[in-house]
Amino acid sequence: LLLATAAFAVAENAPRPESLIKWRQSAFQVIAWNTARIKGALDGHYDPREVRRAANTLAAVAQSDLPALFTPASATGRGWRDTTARDTAFNDAGKFRAAADEFAREAAQLARLAAGTDQQAVTAQFARVAQTCKSCHQKFRQID
Ligand code: HEC
Repeated sequence: LLLATAAFAVAENAPRPESLIKWRQSAFQVIAWNTARIKGALDGHYDPREVRRAANTLAAVAQSDLPALFTPASATGRGWRDTTARDTAFNDAGKFRAAADEFAREAAQLARLAAGTDQQAVTAQFARVAQTCKSCHQKFRQID
């Protein structure tokens, strides 16, 4: 039993590449879901509570340390689907982390503004967040 427990602990410490790819793809799906909620609220009827919830979720996932899910062993392979990460995300890890940090900063600012009542400020900040998605994908993802 002790041996089995120890083996499990080791397996837990080093997640399999397939798990890492699934987790990061899932994280980006949650990111996409909450981005769509904010876009919907800004395009249609502005619902401050909906925007607040989505912005808080986005900020939380953005600051969860996404680069930790991009280990060299997971540079190729399949999670829910084949990874679409570019090798630059692994070879240029410092720049990749900088892009993730920028995303986290802009998402945190969006959450702060969403807590207030200035809809125009939220709209402008949402555009900044969307720009961080696009510029990271252009450098570190095979498709944007
Ligand atoms: C720091 C870089 C970075 C930022 C910022 C970023 N992405 Fe991504 N995104 C990636 C990479 C790399 C992948 C590929 C992951 C994989 O397949 O292993 C990805 C994948 C995705 C996917 C596909 C997930 C799947 O199921 O395969 C979606 C959707 C997505 N991103 C949306 C967004 C949105 C929306 C934002 C901004 C709100 C965003 N991303 C911000 C790097 C980033």
